[in-house]
Amino acid sequence: MGRQATRGDFRTKTKRRINDTIMKAKETSAANIVIFGGKGDLAWRKLIPAFYNLFINGYLPEKFAIYGVHYEKLKEQTYEEYLLEGINTFSRSGKAKPAEWKKFIQSVYFFEGDFTVDDTYRRLSDTLTKNDKEWKTRAVRLFYYSVAPRFIEPISLFLAQYNLATDINSDRVVVEKPFGTDLQTAKELNQLLTKHFKEKQIYRIDHYLGKETVQNLMAFRFANIVYESIWNQNYIEHVQITVAESIGVGGRGNYYEQAGALKDMIQNHLLQLLCVVAMEPPVTLDAEDIRNKKVDVLKAIRPLTKAEVAKNVIRGQYGEGTLKGKKQAAYRQEKNVNPKSNTETFVALKLFVDNWRWQNVPFYLRTGKCMEKTTSLIVIQFKPVPHNLYNNKIMSDQRPNQLIISIQPEMETTLLFHAKEPGVKLQIKPVEMDFTYKESYEAPVPEAYETLLLEILEGDAAMFMRADQVEEAWKVVTPIMEAWKKETAPRFPNYEPGSWGPKTGEALIKPQGCSWTLLPENGIIKNTIRKK
Ligand code: BG6
Repeated sequence: MGRQATRGDFRTKTKRRINDTIMKAKETSAANIVIFGGKGDLAWRKLIPAFYNLFINGYLPEKFAIYGVHYEKLKEQTYEEYLLEGINTFSRSGKAKPAEWKKFIQSVYFFEGDFTVDDTYRRLSDTLTKNDKEWKTRAVRLFYYSVAPRFIEPISLFLAQYNLATDINSDRVVVEKPFGTDLQTAKELNQLLTKHFKEKQIYRIDHYLGKETVQNLMAFRFANIVYESIWNQNYIEHVQITVAESIGVGGRGNYYEQAGALKDMIQNHLLQLLCVVAMEPPVTLDAEDIRNKKVDVLKAIRPLTKAEVAKNVIRGQYGEGTLKGKKQAAYRQEKNVNPKSNTETFVALKLFVDNWRWQNVPFYLRTGKCMEKTTSLIVIQFKPVPHNLYNNKIMSDQRPNQLIISIQPEMETTLLFHAKEPGVKLQIKPVEMDFTYKESYEAPVPEAYETLLLEILEGDAAMFMRADQVEEAWKVVTPIMEAWKKETAPRFPNYEPGSWGPKTGEALIKPQGCSWTLLPENGIIKNTIRKK
C-alpha cells in the first residue's frame, strides 16, 4: 500500500454491497424506450451496455421494449450482432452471458426510420400503443435524443404532432450535450423543447452528475456533520477542480473544432462539479430543491471582466510529442482539424463565488486533453493554523490540510493532515486518512449512464440539468468566449502531450502559494509543482 501511518484506520469496517445501499430497489412499471440514433456511438458504447447491466441486475421493469431508430438497415451485421459487440467491448460487467443476452435482446428492436419523416412517428405511435395494449398499462415512454443537434427540432415536432409524449407524468425526452453553443442558442433550444414538452419531462444529461463519486460528494457533505461547520470561507483557502484526460481528441475533430475545452468540459462538467462543492444544503432531495441550490451557485459566480479573462483564464493546445511511449500527433494534425486551428484543448481558470459562504475563496478549474494522466480530482485546501507552534525544522512540510476527493479513475477521499512521527525527537509530518471504494465495498460500481437511465425511468430529475441551470452556466463562460473572439490566441501549440498543460496553467495558481494537487501514487499527496 505504501502509505503512511493512518492509512486504513478510516476504512469502513463492514464491506457492503453497493447495490443494496446506493441503488435502492426500484419500483417496476412498464417502459417503452426509443433511442433516436440507435446505431450511433453513444448507443453502442454507453446506452445499450447500461440498459443491459440494469437488466441483468434486475432494475429494468418486467415489461420493456427498446427501439433503436436509424434511417437504414445495417449492411454487414445484424443489429443484434452490432449491439453484442458493443457490450462485449464496453460493458463494465464484461462479455455478455449467452442466457442473459438472449433474454435481453428479445426486447430490443431495430427500428428503421428517418428522424425527419413523419411516417417514422406514425409507425412508432402504432408500435408503442400496441405494446401498451398488450401490457395492459400505459407504459413509461423514454425518448432518447442520441443525435446531432440539428435533429432535435424535427424529432420534438413530430413527437408532439403524433401525440407520442403527451402524458406529462410518464413521458420523458432525454437530451445530450451540447445544450446550444452559447447562451442565445441554449435559450433557443430550451424554448424549442418547452414548446413541445413540460420542463419536468425534459432530462438534460450531464453524465458527470451520474458518477458514483459525484453523487457521494452530496452524501459526504449533507449526510455528515463534521465538515459542514468548516465548509466555508472561514476555513477553506481555495478549491481546485481538475478533470484531466490523457487521450487526445482522436476521431472527434469535427465536433471538437466547434467546441474546444471551454464548451466541451468547463461549461458543463466542471461547473456542475463546482455547484456540488459550493451549493447550500437543499431542504429535501426533491429535484427542484436541489437544482435551485445549484442555480444559486451559478448565479453567484462573479462575472469575469475582460482584464480578468486575460489574467485568470489560460488556454492551451497540444503539440506533437510522445504520450505513454507512443507518438502523439499535434491537435492541428488530428483528423478533421484545421491545420491552423486556434481551438483550445486545455483551459485553466480562476473563479469566485460571491456569497456569504465563499467570499474571496478562489475556485481553480482546469481541464485538458493529452495530459500526463487521466484523473478527476476535487481538492479542498484549508487555511493554515492561525498560530503555528512548529518551525521548519520540526515541520519541514508546512502545507495546510487538504481534503482530496478523487472522482476517477481512483475513487477515494483522502484527508491530509499533520501528525507527530514516532520517535524521541519531535518531528511533524503530513499523513493521509483514506476512504477508498476498493477497500470498503465489494460490488462493482455502476456506470454513470446506468444510474442516470434508471433515474429517468423512475422520473427523478434531481441529477439532470434544468433549463435555467444550463443558461446560467453559459452566462459564466460568455465573457471568456467574447474575449477570446477578439483576442488572438496564445502561440499554439503551447504544451506537450503528456505534460500538465502550458506553464501559464501552473502559474495561475502559484500566487496562492501552492500548486495543483495530484492524488498520491505511492505515498503522500503530490503537487504538480513541488513546494519549495
Ligand atoms: C464528454 C466530452 O462530455 O466527456 C469528452 O465531450 C470527454 O470530450 C468526456 O472526453 C469525459 O468523460 P469521462 O466520463 O470519460 O470523464
